[in-house]
Amino acid sequence: MKKTDVLIVGTGLAGLFTALNLDESINVVIISKTKIQLSNSVLAQGGIACEYNDDQQLHQAHINDTLKAGSMLNDPESVEFLVEKAHESVKKLISFGVQFDIGDDNLFLVTKEGGHSSRRIFHSGGDATGKNVTGSLIIQLMQKKNIEFMEETMALNLLVDDKEVIGMSCLDRHEQIFPIYAKKVVLATGGIGSVYNSTTNDLLATGDGIGIAYRQDVHISHMEFVQFHPTAFYNENNHSRQRFLITEALRGEGAYLVNVENERFMKKYSPELMELAPRDIVSQAIFKEMYDTWTDHVFLDTRHLDPKYLQSRFPTVFNHLKENGVILGVDLIPVAPCEHFLCGGIDTDLRGRTSLKSLYAVGETANTGVHGANRLASNSLLECLVFAMAASGDIYKNLKDSKPMKEMSIASNDVYNYNYKPIRKKIGDYMDEHVSIVREQSGLQLTIEVIEKILINLEKYPNQTKNYYETLNLASTAYLITKQALERVKSIGCHYRIN
Ligand code: SIN
Repeated sequence: MKKTDVLIVGTGLAGLFTALNLDESINVVIISKTKIQLSNSVLAQGGIACEYNDDQQLHQAHINDTLKAGSMLNDPESVEFLVEKAHESVKKLISFGVQFDIGDDNLFLVTKEGGHSSRRIFHSGGDATGKNVTGSLIIQLMQKKNIEFMEETMALNLLVDDKEVIGMSCLDRHEQIFPIYAKKVVLATGGIGSVYNSTTNDLLATGDGIGIAYRQDVHISHMEFVQFHPTAFYNENNHSRQRFLITEALRGEGAYLVNVENERFMKKYSPELMELAPRDIVSQAIFKEMYDTWTDHVFLDTRHLDPKYLQSRFPTVFNHLKENGVILGVDLIPVAPCEHFLCGGIDTDLRGRTSLKSLYAVGETANTGVHGANRLASNSLLECLVFAMAASGDIYKNLKDSKPMKEMSIASNDVYNYNYKPIRKKIGDYMDEHVSIVREQSGLQLTIEVIEKILINLEKYPNQTKNYYETLNLASTAYLITKQALERVKSIGCHYRIN
């Protein structure tokens, strides 16, 4: 058993930044189900969208781009909050030692991605933004006496007393269940990539926050808006479900998309914005081209760009492709869309508060309202920063209002050896086929029936293991995506219904 002021679940950017912004008088426990250095944030290449200035016209343009990318289904108040707090949050990152790329003139280098009307994306190490940012924050946190990291500790269920969260039941590395009591609990568990059979996410992204919140009837919405990244590396020899991301910033720096017939097809779908149209439009266009040309990929063409520049600007992408026999700036790069980001999630207000008292959600697991039906590129790391800062401020203000610590009895279950791989594969197969870029009623209906049966069986045979809880969270997340996709009959943003 453990007691603390604040429990943070997850060590991606949102979790780390929440911890770092909490006053040092507050004791914080941060848990990671694997290692603290592993998260989706680490994989983020593109950068952080931010107008680092007081120019209201530029701020308004960032707001407009976000709303337009989100098909106006965003919460305008949240979008304004995101953009207005961007400057302060990036400044804070810099004060914590993060080094953003600067040019010969000593000014920050900023790039462009899909849906942005101007260059406003900060990056670090070229295309290693996530790795560099989380790395710097972990170094800072390691020096704080009020912060305790617990690795290989998986959050299972919220402990709730009289409609208020008082902690979390957790599983240690020996699959022993134990409680962590806390005045405030923050879910910062990241994405849901493993719900699908191919994703740019780290495969540890099993929708844990969504599953945990769902079991307590916490409000969750916009789950149908799963974003598919247009350009994951398509490599026939890679049999992992995790696909290598090729950053959209490459298109921001001039790369084109061509189909297998060498046609620059984006002119048919978005003649003005071309390859820099918002992500939902580009992914849907690629899907259509692959269908029409009977293939499972298109190409990213960088052959008109300087290979030397590409190597220094995109070292992560350059090295990965080289290891796989493709030279950036010389060869065509086969790419195809795959799952990338959940735009919806656990509903929160501007302070990260959820519908359950003393429970907060930040980062990808939260639905703060900023993304609407489709997230604008590089707004995700920004959302982590801005809402983590807001949540930590609210936690500090309200810590005293929490319930006095109280212990609860926690039921433990049997532990048995069971292989959940076939169930996970089945979930992935149905989600890929019916709840992917293009959806139709009968496929969604079929999927929900299958997932419901899986959920019933999982609930019937509880197993006190990490694999069981991950599978339960995957099934709950798949269920919510499919249910909300069935409920939304009209196409909008990432949700494309053909009937
Ligand atoms: C990318 O670099 O293309 C991904 C960044 C993002 O998801 O916004």
